[in-house]
Amino acid sequence: MAHNRLTQLLDQYTSGYSLAQSFYTDPLIFEADWEHIWKKYWLFVGSTAEIPKPGNYFTYQAHHDSVIIIRGDQGEVHALYNTCRHRGSLVCLEERGHTSKLMCPYHQWVYNKDGSLFKARLMPGDFDKSAYGLHPVQVRVVEGLIFISLSSNPPDFDKVVQDFAPFVKPYKLDQAKVAYRKRYELRTNWKLIAENFRECYHCGPAHPEYCRAVIGANLTESAAQVLPERQQAWERKGLSVKGIDFENDSFHFAVRYPLRPGVESYSTNGKAVAIPMGDHTDFDAGVLGLVCYPNFWMDAVSDYVWTMRITATSASQCLVDLTWLVDSQAVEGQDYTIERLTDFWRITGEQDWKLCENNFKGIESSHYGPGPYAPVEADVAKFVDWYIDRLREGVSTAVAF
Ligand code: FES
Ligand SMILES: [Fe+2]
Repeated sequence: MAHNRLTQLLDQYTSGYSLAQSFYTDPLIFEADWEHIWKKYWLFVGSTAEIPKPGNYFTYQAHHDSVIIIRGDQGEVHALYNTCRHRGSLVCLEERGHTSKLMCPYHQWVYNKDGSLFKARLMPGDFDKSAYGLHPVQVRVVEGLIFISLSSNPPDFDKVVQDFAPFVKPYKLDQAKVAYRKRYELRTNWKLIAENFRECYHCGPAHPEYCRAVIGANLTESAAQVLPERQQAWERKGLSVKGIDFENDSFHFAVRYPLRPGVESYSTNGKAVAIPMGDHTDFDAGVLGLVCYPNFWMDAVSDYVWTMRITATSASQCLVDLTWLVDSQAVEGQDYTIERLTDFWRITGEQDWKLCENNFKGIESSHYGPGPYAPVEADVAKFVDWYIDRLREGVSTAVAF
C-alpha cells in the first residue's frame, strides 16, 4: 500500500516543477527519504578539529541510530553504533566529551575506542569478548571533514575525497580551532533548505548583507568579468579553482567564487574577522563552497570555515548545526570575536530559516500545488530531479519500504 502510494507519487512528478505536497509533509515520505537517501548516502557529522585528542568523542543522532564518533589512540577516527552489545543500552549518553574507554551505564560493559569489548563483568570465563564489539559504522575523513554512512554498501566516496581534498587542504582543518557552534531547530522539511541553498532568485530581496559581499548574488550583475583574473591569482597561490559540477549520478559539488573587490571575508562590513587560516597568507581566497547531499554544506573564506550539518528529524522538522572554525593560532578577543566572526552567517542563515519555515507553512495549505521553477532556479530543478531519481532507484530495488 505505502509502496504503491510512493510509486504513484513518483509517477506523477513533473520535472521543472516543485514537488507535490506529500514529498514535504508526509511521514511516509520522510521514512522513504531516510531509507533511500539518508541511510544510504554519506552524512557529514563534524570535523576532526572537534575531537583533537584520543578519547575525544561526540555522538550524532541519525534517525533511530545514535552514532559515536571517537578519536583513537593513533589519531584515527572511529564511528560506532551507540548500542551496547549486551542488552542494547546507549553507551554514550553525552553529546560530546572525553573518555579513555567507553563504559555502558547499564551493567558497565567497557569498550575500547575502536569499539572492541574490553571488559564484561561477571560474564562466564569462556565468554568470547571478541564477538561483542560495538558495531562499526562506515567512516571517511576528507582533510578533517568526517562523513559516515549507515549503509553496508554505500555509494563510492573516493571521487568525493579526490574532488574535495585539494580544495580543503589549505585550510588545515585537522588543526583548526572550533570557535563557535550554533543549533537551530526548524519547522521545515530538509529539502526546502537544500532547495533554498541552490538558488539566488531570493538573494536580492532577502539577503542585503550577502549581496553586498558577493558579486552577482542579486542577479543584476555578473562575476564573469572578474572571474578569469581572480582564478589566475588563486592558481598562482596554489588554490584549486576548477569547480566540480553536480551530476545526476553524483552527490557532491565544489565551487570557488570571488567576493566583491575590497571585500576580504564573509562579514557584515567586508573586513576580515580573523587571521588568515591554515596555509592562507592574505584575505584573497574568495569563497569556497562545498556541498555533499543530503546534509553537508561548507563555505570557507580566507579567515574562517563555516560548516552546516542538516539532520532531518521528521517530515516537518530538521536540526541545523552550524560550526565556525578558525586557524589554530587564532586567539579569541585578540584575533577574532565571536560576534564579528558569526554575524554574517547568523544574519544570512536566519533570513534563510525564516524563508524555509514560511515555505513549509505555505506548502501545508489545502491549495498548494507544484509551481514552475524560473530559469535561474535550474540548479534547484536539478537537485529535485536527483532526489526523485534516488527514490525511484530505491523503490525499484526494495520490495517495500
Ligand atoms: S546494556 Fe550495556 S552493559 Fe548491559
Ligand atoms: Fe538564502
